[in-house]
Amino acid sequence: MNVAIIGTGYVGLPTGVGLAELGHQVVCIDREQSKIDALQAGKITLYEDGLEELFRKNTKEKRLHFTTSMKDGISNAELVIIAVGTPPHPITKEADMKYIHAAATELAEHLTRYTIIATKSTVPVGTGDDIEILIAKKNPQAEFDVVSLPEFLREGYAVHDFFNPDRIIVGANSDKAKEKIKELYKAFDNEIPMLFVSRRSSETIKYASNAFLAMKIHYINEMANFCEKADANIYEVAQGMGLDSRIGPKFLTPGPGYGGSCFPKDTLAMAYMARQNDVEMSLITATIKGNDNRKKEMAERIVNAVKYIDNPKIAVLGLAFKNGTDDCRESPAIEIVSELVNRKYSVFAYDPKAMKNAETLIGSKITYCQSAYEAVENADVLAILTEWEEFKKLDLNKIASLMKNKTIIDCRNMLDKQKALSLDFNYQGIGI
Ligand code: UDX
Repeated sequence: MNVAIIGTGYVGLPTGVGLAELGHQVVCIDREQSKIDALQAGKITLYEDGLEELFRKNTKEKRLHFTTSMKDGISNAELVIIAVGTPPHPITKEADMKYIHAAATELAEHLTRYTIIATKSTVPVGTGDDIEILIAKKNPQAEFDVVSLPEFLREGYAVHDFFNPDRIIVGANSDKAKEKIKELYKAFDNEIPMLFVSRRSSETIKYASNAFLAMKIHYINEMANFCEKADANIYEVAQGMGLDSRIGPKFLTPGPGYGGSCFPKDTLAMAYMARQNDVEMSLITATIKGNDNRKKEMAERIVNAVKYIDNPKIAVLGLAFKNGTDDCRESPAIEIVSELVNRKYSVFAYDPKAMKNAETLIGSKITYCQSAYEAVENADVLAILTEWEEFKKLDLNKIASLMKNKTIIDCRNMLDKQKALSLDFNYQGIGI
């Protein structure tokens, strides 16, 4: 199938590469000339485990192409996937639809035959209807169907999740469109459950799922606070809870709060849609507030460890919003570090992948180090904020010999508590 994808970000690019690997002819379109230049020159523009290899393979085998020209990309496509950003509006926090509307309006004039327009971006309920109206207005002759095809892939696991999704949700109001989407995923050989629902239900499923997962994380974080006071262990508690199949074991890992480009934005957008529809969604509003407080609480724990020390040095390990990605958008680590910087503390940070992106957000207000050990040298407190595997392997003896004051605030429970205590560290984990 000839597929065009608008947007080459964390959703668009892995989707394009994945569909090419399934055997489709894919053109990825992006307005940013520099991105397209890089991709055409064979350089991948974002870090995702396993993506580069598939990107190279499919470009070489001529199934994957890149262009800035909407006309070149769209005119031959049977399916156009919109995967542009829907950032939160700075004031209302509703999903900002300007990129979606611009894409729909621009693509409309290049439709030359029956085409499916699918939204992969997370879009407010009713967006499919809006796109339909926009296209019909711009190009009254166009033959098309608008489908909601929400994306559930996780950053850092985009390639894995593309080929192993739990389910494929298709929100389509026409049989012709449903058949076309079945054809798109034919290579999966019916092994992945495919759920056909109305377009509005499909748009809602994406928000309902993300808000639920965010709530699950907030819940386990509050339970971790309880375990700390009650001298229980959150991992034992989560394991016991997770064995109940109605609860399930996933998304019960405590931490410094959820971040990333989806959960914070989607919970806010869901809360906005609830208000617009006069529906009370108290669990979602409590989750948003609780997660904001969580980051402040974590910053407070670090401050408490150094507040009686003159010119303390704070070492921070991890800046990405989670492991496996260089993405720092809405990263709890960035918010915690910013809070420390606001209070004029000296921060020395290290992240294996995300330092360049972190620098675009916090600039030179902190010192960026080349290794974990460089960051902890002469530090008064060490805060671990992202769950990179390499932090689990750190040599605690070496850290003990490098630090000035031996305090560790381990917001991801990466280090061995018993070992840290035996080396006379003042060690604080989460819920343990
Ligand atoms: C999420 C959804 O999982 C995905 O389905 C959707 O398409 C996009 O949003 P992503 O943002 O890539 O994916 O990250 P995810 O792995 O879900 O983690 C989100 C945040 O929650 C991270 O900050 C992570 O550290 C945190 N988290 C996750 C926890 O604190 N505890 C957990 O148990 C799981």
